[in-house]
Parts: sequence; C-alpha cells; structure tokens
Amino acid sequence: MDPLHNAMSCCLYPQERLREESILPFSAFLTDNFGRRHSYLRMSLTEKCNLRCQYCMPEDGVKLTPRSQLLSTSEVLTLARLFVQEGVEKIRLTGGEPLIRPDVLDIIAELRKLEGLKTIAVTTNGMNLARLLPKLKDAGLNLINISLDSLVPAKFEFIVRRKGFHKVIEGIDKAIEMGYNPVKVNCVVMRGLNEDELLDFVALTEKKPLEVRFIEYMPFDGNKWNFKKMVSYQEMLDHIRQQWPNLEKLQTGQTETAKTFKVPGFKGQVGFITSMSDHFCGSCNRLRITADGNLKVCLFGNSEVSLRDVLRSGASNEELLQIIGAAVGRKKKQHAGMFSISQMKNRPMILIGG
Ligand SMILES: C[S@@+](CC[C@H](N)C(=O)[O-])C[C@H]1O[C@@H](n2cnc3c(N)ncnc32)[C@H](O)[C@@H]1O
Ligand code: SF4
Repeated sequence: MDPLHNAMSCCLYPQERLREESILPFSAFLTDNFGRRHSYLRMSLTEKCNLRCQYCMPEDGVKLTPRSQLLSTSEVLTLARLFVQEGVEKIRLTGGEPLIRPDVLDIIAELRKLEGLKTIAVTTNGMNLARLLPKLKDAGLNLINISLDSLVPAKFEFIVRRKGFHKVIEGIDKAIEMGYNPVKVNCVVMRGLNEDELLDFVALTEKKPLEVRFIEYMPFDGNKWNFKKMVSYQEMLDHIRQQWPNLEKLQTGQTETAKTFKVPGFKGQVGFITSMSDHFCGSCNRLRITADGNLKVCLFGNSEVSLRDVLRSGASNEELLQIIGAAVGRKKKQHAGMFSISQMKNRPMILIGG
C-alpha cells in the first residue's frame, strides 16, 4: 500500500477500514443471503413526467404523493451518502422524468463529491436533455440512457401520448457531440407497435456511437401488459440476424444486465434487456429507492420499506443500516416469472423508477 493510502486509511470509519483492508470485502448490510453485493443504487427523483408512455403510465394517470411526503434534496443526499459509504459505486437517477426536478443539478453536483462513487447516471426521456446537458456534464454526470421507442415521429407520439420526437433526437445528438460514449438508447419493444423498427434501430449504430438497448416489455400495474405483446430476446435476435448474420456477441461484466452485440464495422452496439425471457436475477446488484423514499430490493417484488419514515423519526445511521440490511436479507433469489408478476400487485412503473 502506498504511503498516502496508508495515511488515509487511518482516518476511515472502522467499517470502511475493514473493507479497505479486505477483511470485510463488502458491506454486510448490502449483501443478501445469496451472496449478491448491491453496489448499484437507482434513485427516483420524481413521480411526475412530461410524457405519458403507454407501457409505463396508466391511461388514467397516477395519484401523486403529496410533496411533503417525497424525499427532499437533503434526504436524497443523506441516503445516497449512506449507501456510498457502504459500498455503492454507481447511482442512477430516474423517475418519472428526473430532469424535470428543479434541483437535479444540485443533486448531481453533491453526489460528485462522494468519495467511492464512481458513476453517476441518468435515465431520461430526453425532452429537456439538449438544453440541460452542458450543465449536467459540468455537475458531474457521466452516463446517460435516453428512452426512444420509435424513429417515426407520429408513432413516437402515439406511444408516449405527447409530442417531442425532435427534442429527443436533439438530446441524443447533443450527448454524442459532448463526448458521452456510448450513449445508451432504451427502446421498449412491443408487438404491433414498434417491432417492425428493430432493423432501423440497429442501422442507427452504424455511424453513431450508440448502444441501442432493446428492452422486453414488462408487466407493471396499469400498463395492460400481455404475453402476446411481448417480443422475446430470441425472436428479436433471430430477426436481426437475418439482416446481419455476422452479428457478434460481446463480452460483458458479471453484473451487466444487457446482452450486447455488434455488427462488425459499426461504430455502436446493440443490447438486449431480457428480464422476462431470460432473467439475470442471479447477478443482480441493484437496489431502488422510490421518490417517496421506499427501498425496493427487487423491481418485480412488491415488498417495500420506508426509509423516509425511519429518517424522519431521527434514527441514526446504524439504525437505518439495520433496516436496510434486513430488507436486503429478505430479497428473493429471483423474480416470480412474468405470468405471476403480471397478476401481482406492484406499483406502476412511473412510481417505481426503472
Ligand atoms: C420509468 S422510465 C424513467 C426515466 C425516464 N422518464 C425515461 O423514460 O427514460 C425508465 C425506463 O423504464 C423503461 N420502462 C418503463 N416501463 C417499462 C415496461 N413496462 N417495460 C420495460 N421497460 C419499461 C422506460 O422505457 C425507460 O427506459
Ligand atoms: S417511461 Fe419515462 S418518459 Fe415515459 S411515462 Fe414513464 S417516466 Fe415518463
């Protein structure tokens, strides 16, 4: 160990020092009964959105939580700090639409100061992205996923029930121009809606450093999911391989959710999020906190615990950690399967944060 490192480890909290010295490899509070280490936290910043995507927002909208019951800026940061101290290395801000939260730049700038946090990511619908991107980059944002489900403006508007196609494209181009690489584009594939555009999306990766990620359509409350509308990974892959038989599979990290491929010679790549047909629960390292402060240990599980209430009761970090650790300890080995999930009560996606 170098002298600076040595000198610094004397100032660490015992828990951190143990981790530094590899006696305790990872926080026990964030490790579940199956040995999964949760080093990735997704925080929803808002329940509101400027779009109304059919697969996410129920047709009749959602009942919004009163503002006083949502996490404040300082509560978001207190929780983020605690999770990072325990070993979280990546935080993704999501929602609702995270870029409509007025303090999003302040939150990112404060997260940037957290030692140990390697990646700050945002998932956005791209509507405000072109305008905000220079400030987001200055604040410290280093990874962007932008949702786009159609390359046909009228179809885009049908799916998201709002106008704005050109703003999203502008946001994607701006992100490329500002050096984000890859810029990830999330596309939820639904039969009868956009599965005929798969090849056009892949073709986008020829000249642009994009990672287009085809997401299997998932069931959430109020989104009218049914099996027939879901296009599976295998079906998508077969279809793409008819056009590009030499599509190459890429190696991915252990906790990567996407299975990634590349057409040789293309600048970008293509990924598949196969949560329904081939889940990746065994390597899941994600935890979620909803905008109203509930910890969700599984996207498809309906058990939640309110960290907001614990925080507001004046609990110490140690007490919070006990509650977080107990929730992580109850995490199931894997989700219940798409048919059971579709019958189960959960939140609509807009109130979870994908
Ligand atoms: C809930 S959104 C929140 C962030 C932001 N508003 C956006 O749209 O990117 C996060 C991601 O979840 C995805 N998503 C929402 N509902 C989904 C569903 N039913 N199945 C699969 N992905 C879904 C969206 O496409 C988006 O990429
Ligand atoms: S997917 Fe994103 S943009 Fe679409 S309604 Fe949900 S939160 Fe809004």
